[in-house]
Amino acid sequence: MKVGDRHYTTIGLNADGRAVDIIDQRWLPHEFRVVTLDRLDAFAQAIAEMWVRGAPLIGVTAAYGLAFRMTEDASDTALEAAADLLQSTRPTAVNLRWALDDLRGRLRPLPPAERAAAAYARAAAIAAEDVEINRAIGRHGLEIIRRIAAAKPAGAPVNILTHCNAGWLATVDYGTATAPIYLAHEAGIPIHVWVDETRPRNQGAQLTAWEMAGQGVSHRLIVDNAGGHLMQHGQVDMVIVGTDRTTATGDVCNKIGTYLKALAAHDNQVPFYVALPSPTIDWSLSDGLGEIPIEERAEAEVSEVQGRDPAGALTRVRISPEATPAANPAFDVTPARLVTGLITERGLAPATRAGLASLFPERQC
Ligand code: MRU
Repeated sequence: MKVGDRHYTTIGLNADGRAVDIIDQRWLPHEFRVVTLDRLDAFAQAIAEMWVRGAPLIGVTAAYGLAFRMTEDASDTALEAAADLLQSTRPTAVNLRWALDDLRGRLRPLPPAERAAAAYARAAAIAAEDVEINRAIGRHGLEIIRRIAAAKPAGAPVNILTHCNAGWLATVDYGTATAPIYLAHEAGIPIHVWVDETRPRNQGAQLTAWEMAGQGVSHRLIVDNAGGHLMQHGQVDMVIVGTDRTTATGDVCNKIGTYLKALAAHDNQVPFYVALPSPTIDWSLSDGLGEIPIEERAEAEVSEVQGRDPAGALTRVRISPEATPAANPAFDVTPARLVTGLITERGLAPATRAGLASLFPERQC
């Protein structure tokens, strides 16, 4: 997407053809910084510490990290160790495992001399596929937004609530939950986005709000607790969120707090959609609550907040007593029964095994 006049993707090969440039998301919205990853450890650190984040983007970053390592040492031992290191960075988003398993499967049979080139080619293909998938999700989601707009008085905005950042910053480009929003905006459909701040790391306040402002989409930031109230008062026409892992039965794991939005949406008959790229489906799982590992992150993410002080410096401040411990589960699971529909690159599916199977018959045994 555009930042100022220039088109950016979140990740791309450095001019040296080996290292990888990423947008370092830790500093947004205050500073736009691009950094170069040129050590395996740096790729792992960038994922673990969320310089890059979002399920699709961490998959692509891991793929490039493995490719980079193959330029240094393409032995079987190095391949397995690098994949294991990258896999250990974050447990919940299945895209990471999907990308690494895909690369491992392709590289293992190759002679070491051919592994680096093959890995870079596949990493680039996964990145390009991500963009195409998101465009397709955008087209299918746009039809839903059109239908909602058509049922409203002429010129009235479609009010969309979103949680966390499932925008272009969470992918290579376009985003998943934001792709329909951007296409609707481009198509001239009046859109207004309620942006959940998404404590504790504030991906909504820092990233989604920055994206919306950058693309000129009307939006307002709300605290995470405001969504239910807005729904009760008819101020939300639909919810669209992303996902880090969705089971074959349609249970949706996404950023902590998503479940509460789904409950509120259900109670208020507000349609609740999940933008779901197929690499985020974990076909091996059928029980989201019992089977998806939920990442527990550092206490400091809860007890401190980062922001810009009046002098313009980025700073972190403590907001809770020193003696108070914090728990920080980073994701939750929304049961399929609360999901109105899954917007995939192949179209809209009900959140059921049969619904997903009808769109992806090749995944059924
Ligand atoms: O912890 P994060 O910021 O990586 O979590 C991101 C999310 O939960 C997104 O909603 C999800 O990855 C979908 S991104 C297209």
